Amino acid sequence: MKFPTVILVLLVLSKSVVTTNYDLITATSNLIEHLQLPVQVTVLSCWSESEKLQFWSGLNSFTSVRFFTENQVNLPWNDRNQHQNLLVIDAGCSKSKNLLRSAGQLLYYRVKWIIINNKTSKCEQFLKFFDNLQVLISSEVYYICEENGVQGFAIKQVYRLSLTTELIEETFGFWNKGVIVNSQFSKYSSVRRHNLNHYKLRASIVITHNETVNHLEDYSEKHVDAVTKSNYFLTKHVAQDLNATLKFSYVNQCKFSGMIGELQSDLADLGGTALFLTADRIKEIDYLSMTTPTSVKFIFRSPKLSFTDNVFLLPFSATVWVCIISFIVLSGVLLLIIMKVELRCTRVRYQNIVRPNLIDTVMNMFGALCQQGSYVEPKSLPSKCLILLSLIILMFLYASYSANIVALIQSPSNKIKTLEDLLNSRLEAGAEDTVYNRYYFMHETEPVRKAIYDRKMKHRDGSDSTFITLQKGVEKVRQGQYAFHVELGVCYKVISETFQEDEKCGLQEIEYLNIVDTYYAVQKNSSFRELVRLSLFKLREFGIQHREYWMLYTRKPTCSGGSSFIPVSIVDVWPALTLLMSGFGIAGGLLVGEIIWARVRTKRNQAKVGDYFG
Ligand SMILES: *[C@@H]1O[C@H](CO)[C@@H](O)[C@H](O)[C@H]1NC(C)=O
Ligand SMILES: *[C@@H]1O[C@H](CO)[C@@H](O)[C@H](O)[C@H]1NC(C)=O
Ligand SMILES: *[C@@H]1O[C@H](CO)[C@@H](O)[C@H](O)[C@H]1NC(C)=O
Repeated sequence: MKFPTVILVLLVLSKSVVTTNYDLITATSNLIEHLQLPVQVTVLSCWSESEKLQFWSGLNSFTSVRFFTENQVNLPWNDRNQHQNLLVIDAGCSKSKNLLRSAGQLLYYRVKWIIINNKTSKCEQFLKFFDNLQVLISSEVYYICEENGVQGFAIKQVYRLSLTTELIEETFGFWNKGVIVNSQFSKYSSVRRHNLNHYKLRASIVITHNETVNHLEDYSEKHVDAVTKSNYFLTKHVAQDLNATLKFSYVNQCKFSGMIGELQSDLADLGGTALFLTADRIKEIDYLSMTTPTSVKFIFRSPKLSFTDNVFLLPFSATVWVCIISFIVLSGVLLLIIMKVELRCTRVRYQNIVRPNLIDTVMNMFGALCQQGSYVEPKSLPSKCLILLSLIILMFLYASYSANIVALIQSPSNKIKTLEDLLNSRLEAGAEDTVYNRYYFMHETEPVRKAIYDRKMKHRDGSDSTFITLQKGVEKVRQGQYAFHVELGVCYKVISETFQEDEKCGLQEIEYLNIVDTYYAVQKNSSFRELVRLSLFKLREFGIQHREYWMLYTRKPTCSGGSSFIPVSIVDVWPALTLLMSGFGIAGGLLVGEIIWARVRTKRNQAKVGDYFG
């Protein structure tokens, strides 16, 4: 039984090329075992059946292997688990180079590759095989080759920064007789390949004011293009971290014609200005990290309390009001009883100032409440007790009421807390004239938000003059009764420069945009994606991102002492005026009524007299 097998092996061994070939295949399957990736292995080659068997027997039974011919259609373009694919290619086969060329993006995006060559496996020659191939920096391409002075094989990786730069090789480890020695420092290529050797990255930057170009680094005019500036610094830090150099290009907007356009058409690698995340952009660019917190909100000075409430009713709660009224009625009734008893049983008389009926006594107590004193000059002991007691109680009420009113007239309202409150308030609204403000206000569909735009911001003639400059808007906020939709960090700078100390108190904010913060983005499927993302995360974790943010954005100004004096305006006394006016109205109406009534009566009397004498 053994004899024929030995002959077979001897026959096979007689071709010396085949030995190395089998070793190479074993090395490949050993490498796959060693990498321990959750993979679907696909071999695209021109191997013979025995070579396939050799390869397969080197793997453990949990790895699934597929063998295909070297045809483009066998590339995993539409595999949902693209990232689990490991492709083995034999460069010795005739169509392998074409196959790799047509692989395009797959060479550096998600898919891992092991490339061997069963014809010439010397390392120097092998490296040339990768000329013109897109093995960009994020690629995971291993190749196995023979190196001088090394027993067995060397396992290497190759990458390049762009198609025009030269190939860079990394040594992964060595294989000898089934043993792999891993000499690589870090498992992750995005950590290892951190040095771009002054490679020139192209960054596109959005500038909305022409003069910003001259003030990108000097922290002057902070409120102009603040997002641009803070991300400009971050971009520079990223480049420094990656040992890359930068070439900036300036565009005026981050629309599809601007920065996104440059990223799409490969004019830029990095989007150097953070931008809002919208659904239609996700397909076009890769968002990496939240770099600039956006706090775009409505800001306004809280209006006086009298704008939102009737300050004359506020000092007492409803129950206290009910108690006061019942007290007056009760004491009026008591006074009436006392007077009636006095009238019947004593000789005390009050002339005609107050007659013993309910209306008069209640009026009397009401006068006492309003600190007008009592018309009744108490003569008997019970009435003295009643009047004295009432006066004392009403004095306390009066004192606390008027003290409260004074405080209330000076205090700001905190009634406006939500967008709905804002919509129903008397405040006007406007927004800073920026691209995103216009976009979001005009495309809003949520009912309350839409109503704010329709009712408060859109003019009847359809013009949108409520989009105004920062300075104008802040001035309007200062004057009061105006809510301005603006980037807070920028707005606070202007506020701290232009507002009086006491005007900084009572600033309120309401969020309108329902969106996430701005994101830093790069070209779609860019090979630098992971490197830049790691750098950005590092910048955030080390606090550098935070620092750059606060160097450009101003914090909310503190309110130091409300020693301000607010003069009382018509609004504050409006309820009282309304009462007075309606009093006049009723009085006038009654007068007219009485006159008419008198006329009618005289006429009727005359008629009667006429009848009598007629
Ligand atoms: C950055 O790249 C340059 C140019 O290749 C090189 O001389 C330098 O040593 C690199 N710096 C670091 C920190 O690796
Ligand atoms: C900014 O510069 C561009 C081109 O240089 C010019 O067309 C545009 O009018 C300038 N804008 C302002 C506000 O100066
Ligand atoms: C990016 O990769 C995805 C997934 O492979 C692909 O569908 C898409 O077309 C690629 N986009 C670009 C612009 O290359």
